[in-house]
Amino acid sequence: LLRSARKRSPTAPRLPAAGVVHLWRVDLGVPPRQLERLRATLSPDELVRAVRYRAERDRRRFVAGRGALRDILARYTDVDPVRLRFRYGRAGKPELDGDVVAVRFNVSHCDDLALVAVTGRYSVGVDVERVRELPDLEGMAAIVLSERERSVLGGLAGARRVRAFFECWTRKEAFVKAVGDGLRMPVERIEVSLAPGAPPRLLRVAGDRRSAQRWTLRALAPGHGYVGALAVEGHGVRVSLRRWIG
Ligand SMILES: CC(C)(COP(=O)(O)OP(=O)(O)OC[C@H]1O[C@@H](n2cnc3c(N)ncnc32)[C@H](O)[C@@H]1OP(=O)(O)O)[C@@H](O)C(=O)NCCC(=O)NCCS
Repeated sequence: LLRSARKRSPTAPRLPAAGVVHLWRVDLGVPPRQLERLRATLSPDELVRAVRYRAERDRRRFVAGRGALRDILARYTDVDPVRLRFRYGRAGKPELDGDVVAVRFNVSHCDDLALVAVTGRYSVGVDVERVRELPDLEGMAAIVLSERERSVLGGLAGARRVRAFFECWTRKEAFVKAVGDGLRMPVERIEVSLAPGAPPRLLRVAGDRRSAQRWTLRALAPGHGYVGALAVEGHGVRVSLRRWIG
């Protein structure tokens, strides 16, 4: 009873205004006590998913990430974290179920870093990656980049080339996550800007400039050694950064 009687604190965030994205940065390396508190908010299906992770570290990251997500969404909805329910789209995109659907969100995590993007009612996608040497960058690029993107990448060398690849990749992923189809979409047909210093832009979706223009892409600098991107449907987007403490 006490839990469900939880009241919105005066400092609790309101739903982001039109065009505003709240971007929460979450450190998944939470101490054991906090981890147990977060675990207690997970649903049975989430707990089942958690135990399926073989490595303890992955289990911990999943529990911390879901728990933090529930905690963040609870602040916007005034619903207790335990009582929030998710439904899943055709390719697994989680959304809030029930009558609190006005809050849209998306999550990405890499190592101990998670990002949670929250909007009022606009489709949003977020992605974070650690910039790292790939054994076969060329091979990856051949699969996931368009011809135009490959030729821009071909003009770059060394660290700039690796970084440009990941910036490009996170932009594409943020977009397919916003749509909800994930990697079922033909990513090589989603074209984005990637030249160093070029503002992030969605240029074409399967050759179509028009539908690309409906979207805003933002580059994120989530931490040293990481790159990220945000895709939001609409224009005049403002990103407001928050840090989740729990
Ligand atoms: C969604 C997807 C792009 C995730 O990419 P990723 O870089 O590995 O992971 P990220 O950390 O960026 O995102 C994971 C989060 O995105 C969210 N998510 C899951 N499916 C999603 C989808 N279709 N669209 C948007 N977001 C999704 C979840 O919150 C997930 O967090 P969780 O694992 O803690 O539940 C990728 O897994 C995908 O395309 N899935 C589609 C389903 C599919 O076709 N699966 C077949 C795989 S063999």
